Amino acid sequence: MCGIVGYTGYRDVIDVLFKGLTNLEYRGYDSAGIAIRDDNKIKIYKSLGKLINLKNEVKEKQTEIVKPTSGIGHIRWATHGSPSLVNAHPHTCTCGNLVVVHNGIIENYKELREQLIKLGCEFRSQTDTETIAHLVAHEYSKVNDLEIAVRNSVKQLQGAYAVCVMHKEVPDVIVGARKHAPMLVGVGEGENFIASDTPAIIEYTKKTIYLDDNEIAVVTKDNVKITDVNGVIVNKKVEILPWEPVALSKLGYKHFMLKEIHEQPDVIRNVLNGKLYDIDAPISLNEVKISADILKKLNKIEIIACGTSLHASLVGKYLIEDFAGISVEVEPSSEYIYRKTTTDSSTLVIGVSQSGETADTITAIKQAKEKNAHVLIITNRPDSNMARLADSLIPVNAGIEVSVAATKSYTAQLISFYLLAIYLAEIKNSLDKSYVKNLKHELIQLPTKIEEILSNTSNIQECARKFSSFKNFIYIARGINLATAYEGALKLKEISYINATGYPAGELKHGPIAMLDETMPVLSILMPGGVCYEKVLSNSEEAKARNAKLIALTSSDDDNIKSLFDVVLKVPQVNEILSPAIACVPLQLLAYYIAEFLGKDVDQPRNLAKSVTVE
Ligand code: AGP
Repeated sequence: MCGIVGYTGYRDVIDVLFKGLTNLEYRGYDSAGIAIRDDNKIKIYKSLGKLINLKNEVKEKQTEIVKPTSGIGHIRWATHGSPSLVNAHPHTCTCGNLVVVHNGIIENYKELREQLIKLGCEFRSQTDTETIAHLVAHEYSKVNDLEIAVRNSVKQLQGAYAVCVMHKEVPDVIVGARKHAPMLVGVGEGENFIASDTPAIIEYTKKTIYLDDNEIAVVTKDNVKITDVNGVIVNKKVEILPWEPVALSKLGYKHFMLKEIHEQPDVIRNVLNGKLYDIDAPISLNEVKISADILKKLNKIEIIACGTSLHASLVGKYLIEDFAGISVEVEPSSEYIYRKTTTDSSTLVIGVSQSGETADTITAIKQAKEKNAHVLIITNRPDSNMARLADSLIPVNAGIEVSVAATKSYTAQLISFYLLAIYLAEIKNSLDKSYVKNLKHELIQLPTKIEEILSNTSNIQECARKFSSFKNFIYIARGINLATAYEGALKLKEISYINATGYPAGELKHGPIAMLDETMPVLSILMPGGVCYEKVLSNSEEAKARNAKLIALTSSDDDNIKSLFDVVLKVPQVNEILSPAIACVPLQLLAYYIAEFLGKDVDQPRNLAKSVTVE
């Protein structure tokens, strides 16, 4: 979604803004812009589409730029008003002296806009953001102090904002404010930064101050001042970022998605590290801050998440119910927040999110906290808003994930759920000890099995080539791999724009079978070990009888499979209950190669954003 970077200091301002925005690019955007303070003027450059267009725009106007000393930049993902030059940020007040960039949505912008028009403000865009520019300029005209003007303005805003403001009359001062949208200050020496997310500043500093809701930062090159909305100084902790800049490099891979798929074996090792180190020792989850006594009596868990994290949560439900016998409900955050739930103080609510910034999940977590539930967050971003709201936190340690399509974070979430489910089972003594030992042993083997898949992807590439011209796919599975079918179909959909749907195989004949013919391939996930295997096999026969082309994803050497399916994608043998953690890998690769063959923008698919910070 949108991204913000602001800088004041001794470096090349335009270069810092561009590098910062480039490192936020993965979030998804449709236009970009910067405002710089140069030669005692505020100069604005905007463009539609990718950052390269903005860079070219600035290059063309190079002769008019002297030596900028500060600036703010923005990439926009349109919410209010179409993606257009006039709607791109930064926005200005009527006279152009004040510039604003903003992430979030101002809910009362229409009322404010009407009031400001009556005061003589001239609006040029359809955005909610422009209202902020006029509002702050109006407040500034009353007090002649930018910090106070921002403070007085944000008190009038309803909705979500991370906002950065500069004024021509206040040289090299950037004022930032936030509510329900992330914002941080990067602390340097003789320079300071402000940004919506850490990748924007990681090349320059690891020292970070995270703003909380209703806080305002006044940033100059030598000073950072944080106050609350009433102007009272807030003493904030300077935190050290856990990331290295190399996390933002493709390291020779064509796309971040391919790099991140290949990182999965190491990601699993990282997740297991320190939690599962000896198959004879109990799983250690020090991060779970609920007493064993309470966990033993726990009879309800609710998991809330979106997209890929929701699919990982479905595997989590299966595991916790199977291993620990605790009833688990899984719900999309966007549904949970608009209904009367039964969450109460005896419920354990688990929020799952790669980014830790998904607006719907944050709202859901806040609602659960209001009901006094214990909130456990499983996230890849211990530096996120969601992590800050957590009573207990399981950091999934997948490293920064740049590609919009989640891959390694999904696998890391799955492994976190395996650990959590075994942890609960060990506390409740609900599983046979030798079964647990065996599970742990197999968990430790998973990275090597995934390495085996990654070492030879020619079969998957061949399959992708063969099927890349189809317009529709159905993915079927049962049991613990139903989530794998949902996730595999989502991967294909989001990066290749091919219509793919995951279905419980048993549901096929209750409707979807009507669509089957030679134009609708069916991908069946068949992992031997339980009753599901034979059932999915017969459901696949039913599809074959309707002339559908069949792809099998399996670890089986069964001759029936070879004769029934047009293509067989093999994975190494694995306990069925652990199979989602390896079955997802060929499906990620299949989606990747299909999108590649179709020439799609794999890392930044159209219309999508890496972290969805609006509801
Ligand atoms: C995954 O490939 C998607 N891009 C998307 O569904 C994502 O999983 C979803 O938006 C949730 O994000 P989160 O995990 O950061 O909360």
